[in-house]
Amino acid sequence: MYPERVVSGMRPTGALHLGHYHGALKNWVRLQSEYPCLFFVADWHALTTHYDSPEVIEENIWDMVIDWLAAGIDPQQSVLFIQSRVPEHAELFLLLSMCTPLGWLERVPTYKDQQEKLSERDLSTYGFLGYPLLQAADILMYRAAWVPVGEDQVPHIELTREVARRFNHLFGREVGFEEKAREAVKKLGSKRAKLYLELRTRFQEQGDEQAVQRGHDLLDDSQNLGLADRERLFGYLEGSRKLILSEPQALLTEASRMPGIDGQKMSKSYGNAIAMREDPAVVTKKIRTMPTDPARVRRTDPGEPERCPVWQLHQVYSGEDTRQWAQAGCRSAGIGCLECKQPVIDAVLAEQQGFLERAQPYLDDRTLLRNIVADGCDQARKMAQETMREVREAIGLAYD
Ligand code: TRP
Ligand code: SF4
Repeated sequence: MYPERVVSGMRPTGALHLGHYHGALKNWVRLQSEYPCLFFVADWHALTTHYDSPEVIEENIWDMVIDWLAAGIDPQQSVLFIQSRVPEHAELFLLLSMCTPLGWLERVPTYKDQQEKLSERDLSTYGFLGYPLLQAADILMYRAAWVPVGEDQVPHIELTREVARRFNHLFGREVGFEEKAREAVKKLGSKRAKLYLELRTRFQEQGDEQAVQRGHDLLDDSQNLGLADRERLFGYLEGSRKLILSEPQALLTEASRMPGIDGQKMSKSYGNAIAMREDPAVVTKKIRTMPTDPARVRRTDPGEPERCPVWQLHQVYSGEDTRQWAQAGCRSAGIGCLECKQPVIDAVLAEQQGFLERAQPYLDDRTLLRNIVADGCDQARKMAQETMREVREAIGLAYD
């Protein structure tokens, strides 16, 4: 059985805020009970833009991993690791770089965007251009089926798919492929073999994508296939090559509607964030001083929630009853803004209480944290070594 894996990474930006939690992390927590998940700290990725200030990366790593755990990422369910501790990522990145056309990288939208946005940095480096390919290596290494990311990252997943396809096309050749594939079909057992061949015909004659998906599901459920046969059958379904690297899909993370305390999108760089683990007094003060509907100057002026960032917080944190109370009270001037903010403050503090409690054991005992990550790195490295063995073999680099 080859379960569908989920892989995602985050740059080490230090302590995370509520936007990260309600955007990415909550999603990760949900996924970990549905799929085998690998989550990693993308420290090399941080270097692609911050190569001149690497000293911040280390402290950031540990703060960030603590926040993952605080959010409810469970190291029993998910593999947590640091990218640079699995140097196989660099090897795969290098090998993929040999067959990736330069134009593919130059055309990635984040390349020009980020160079413009971070204009104070010199990003005309080789590493920065190659960073989406490094990301492709991160994903292909674990044969991920799903990659939870935000919208801005979708072009990177598309690039990853193209890179995988090209790699398979170039290196998935095999002498006697057809015969070996037909032998492997027999190993499915007669019922499954028949279905597999039907699905294959449906795809090859009618281009039916659903048939490919069903074929993949069938292979995923087939227990007595070795890895090589499995790659052949994945490839045979669609053509005449082995599929060594499998194409992932983006699992789009819905953009968090979390506003910062100034009403703009919450972001560390705007200085408007509430950290996941923040002092309760500071949280209270930040929310109490948040701007509200600018038309509501006096307590007696009615307001409009749609123009108020506090209302967006209600949408994240409040139940139906409280939301109705806030809307009606705002529009009729029946409640004041501080009154309106109180249930939000209470809900944020209650949420943070959970974060603080889950984080505490790791703050008290740093070796606990380090052991979790060391263990995750070992697990990831094992999987990575398995992939690299096949990749080297496919290219013809397995000399021993
Ligand atoms: N590039 C991603 C970001 O900036 C982080 C990342 C690196 C990643 N490698 C990845 C995300 C692999 C998903 C999968 O947010
Ligand atoms: Fe915003 Fe609530 Fe004040 Fe209305 S009552 S303006 S929703 S804080």
